[in-house]
Amino acid sequence: MIKLASAHLVVAVVLGVAPAALAQYGGGANRFPDGPGKELVEGVCTGCHQPNMITRSSGYTREGWQELIGTMIDLSHSTDTRDRIVQYLATQFPPNTHRAPKPMPGPHQVTFAEWFVPTLGQRSRDPVEAPDGSIWWVGQFGNVIGRLDPKTGAMKEYQLPPEALPHSVTLDASGTPWYLGNGNGTIGKLDPASGKVTVFKMPDPAAKDPHTGEFDKNGVLWFTLQQSNMVGRLDPATGDIKLTKTKTPGAKPYGIKIDADGTPWYACNGAACLAKIDTATMELTEIKLPTPGTTVRRLDIAEDGMIWYVNSGKGRIGRYNPKTGEIKEWDSPSGPESHPYAIAVVDGVVWYNESGVRPDMLVRFDPKSERFQSWAIPSGGVHAGIIRHMRPARNGDLLIHQSSTNRIGRVTPKTPGQ
Ligand code: HEC
Repeated sequence: MIKLASAHLVVAVVLGVAPAALAQYGGGANRFPDGPGKELVEGVCTGCHQPNMITRSSGYTREGWQELIGTMIDLSHSTDTRDRIVQYLATQFPPNTHRAPKPMPGPHQVTFAEWFVPTLGQRSRDPVEAPDGSIWWVGQFGNVIGRLDPKTGAMKEYQLPPEALPHSVTLDASGTPWYLGNGNGTIGKLDPASGKVTVFKMPDPAAKDPHTGEFDKNGVLWFTLQQSNMVGRLDPATGDIKLTKTKTPGAKPYGIKIDADGTPWYACNGAACLAKIDTATMELTEIKLPTPGTTVRRLDIAEDGMIWYVNSGKGRIGRYNPKTGEIKEWDSPSGPESHPYAIAVVDGVVWYNESGVRPDMLVRFDPKSERFQSWAIPSGGVHAGIIRHMRPARNGDLLIHQSSTNRIGRVTPKTPGQ
């Protein structure tokens, strides 16, 4: 038990949350029902996340719960404790359909490949392919950056400076990984050969949470800071960082992409807008989206210049034409609560996920036929987790992850008749 308690504490400290604060969660979905084993679950399962992850889950059988928690915490040294926890969970939270998706059948096929990453409960996310075919990801809770060789399955994790809590990783032109230190207001560059990290600190203490970043053709890194309501640029040649505040207070800049002309565009997760950055002046132009309640996690830019975005707040996807200003939206199949999240446009086809439902659904939308097709995203033997960022590999496959089940993955689409 001592081992367990200390693991719990380490996790809480890493997240910068006092264990006492975690114990003081409120009522409703954040309260565990009474029953044998409740205190154990409160002690072991609230170090990394709130109880509502569990109370709002799709529920599992005994076997399902045992598999799922095995992706977050190693209780193999304490099987008695594990069995009591699993018994409580399976009794209180058996399988349910509260958040069931509306799957869309169709003619296309995909195959999923999954890799289980080493550090448990790390909140694996944001895989990206390097020029040599290796795949980099970050573990936000585990404070790691990792590299996978998909040919051999070999993985290596690099521990980052304390409290960096990387939200994302992106690669510069040479394939060097840069992480966004969401926990301590830094951006870092990793030298994979030596494991050495070069840290760039935000010049303004109000710039707390670097979030997502993309390099432009000149090698400049453009990035968002969600809670700080800022966007920034980092010039790796000089280390110079410039920041600017969003026009709309609370706009919460989130996903960011760079168009063919080199202009960075970002999504507003706290307001109904998309926005672009003038690279010379850092002046921001916001594009208002029409529907009240709209919030946008991420966007992507198609080869024809159209800007595709997820309307997470309203359960839709949308397209903005930057030439004409025309905006068009479509309801996502699983409805207003489906919370579309990650998005990537490959060869004119739009891929995104419905993260509000369980299983998390991968959706394919063909703008020509306006037809949707969707698939439940596997996570080993259970369905759990969310894709929070998806980017294409160079061959057009999609790199994905499931944040709950410690996995990164790859989707290979197959067009009928091929
Ligand atoms: C070491 C960290 C850690 C610990 C300890 C932990 N979890 Fe998790 N858990 C995670 C992460 C990371 C996620 C994904 C969170 C996200 O994506 O925001 C998650 C998500 C979940 C989910 C949501 C699944 C879904 O539908 O996506 C459930 C259920 C869950 N955890 C159950 C548990 C239970 C039960 C315990 C205790 C036995 C536990 N967790 C302990 C890291 C942890």
